[in-house]
Amino acid sequence: NPPPPPGPPKFTGTKLVHDRAHPWRPPRDGDERGPCPGMNTLASHGYISRDGVASPSEMITAVQEAFNMENKFAIFVTYLAHLLNGNIASDLLSIGGKTRKTGPDPPPPAHAGGFNVHGTFEGDAGMTRADAFFGDNHSFNQTLFDKLVELSNRYGDGFYNLTVAGELRSQVLQDSIATNPEFSFKNVRYFTAYSESVFPVNFFVDGRRTEKKLDMDSARSFFKDMKFPPDFYRSAVPIADQGLSEIYAMHPFLPGGNVDGKVNNFAVDPASADFTKPCALYEDILNTVKRLYPNPAGLLRRNLIKCLHDFHPGVAAVLGRDCVEQFPYGKK
Ligand code: HEM
Repeated sequence: NPPPPPGPPKFTGTKLVHDRAHPWRPPRDGDERGPCPGMNTLASHGYISRDGVASPSEMITAVQEAFNMENKFAIFVTYLAHLLNGNIASDLLSIGGKTRKTGPDPPPPAHAGGFNVHGTFEGDAGMTRADAFFGDNHSFNQTLFDKLVELSNRYGDGFYNLTVAGELRSQVLQDSIATNPEFSFKNVRYFTAYSESVFPVNFFVDGRRTEKKLDMDSARSFFKDMKFPPDFYRSAVPIADQGLSEIYAMHPFLPGGNVDGKVNNFAVDPASADFTKPCALYEDILNTVKRLYPNPAGLLRRNLIKCLHDFHPGVAAVLGRDCVEQFPYGKK
């Protein structure tokens, strides 16, 4: 039976997290790594299981402990990923591809495929991962990282900061419009992309630094090597997606995608959630869950009910208190 999500830790200041209890080790054959440099790093240091498979509770504990991610935000992101990509019956989720380690398959169309599954949580216009259309949506991409470095030099004096985040977010979107005929950027992906653009500023900058700017050695360490910089301290305060509205305001962009399978053919999708109607994101997530699990029974149904209920405090905190809890599978 899945436990309820962990609460916030007692101590929430900065501290050394690249410590002797958490040495870096390279992934071994069969270990899962994927599109999230944060989770990859936690696995490679043993904050979650080094094989890259963990329960939502283990993931929340780890992001709080090692990155000082704010509790309700961690609940929102982790349960979102679990509902879309996890194994609800076994309470296990892969941070990379599909693996037998998450247990027996759920009835299709549910897949328990892990973070790598395109069009669920993972989506287009990532900073250092290519669009799925080009073949590999989850591995570190040097060409894309070079662009991050270039813009950090041009707009941040060699550092990644919020100005760089806003410029890079916009440029990556324009690149996808121009090159990916299947480019899609709405609902979950619209929200997560803007969030992830501020993560390097909020989470990858050493907690002892007063200026929120990330040097390129540290950026390479996280994004490419999945490794804390030497002597890394976590954020000095619990943190989430602070800075999102600033980078959005630099180059406002509405949700949508290229239509008719053509590049340079972007159309806004007025049905998508956006920052003016965040509860539409909750609706969209529930609709996706209902598509994945049209008719759950037994343990699967019980765990889905529990998971959706444990997800909602995260929804209320991140998307707003007026996103009223819904019960697509009943309450018991
Ligand atoms: C990207 C999941 C926490 C940093 C992603 C992606 C997933 C994911 C599925 C791929 C989305 C995409 O770009 O297409 C999660 C989950 C978390 C979590 C479930 C649980 C709390 C974190 C933390 C950090 C982080 C704590 C930072 C320390 C990032 C960054 C990206 C990303 C920077 C964008 C990578 C890029 O665009 O190149 N995450 N993540 N994540 N995540 Fe996480």
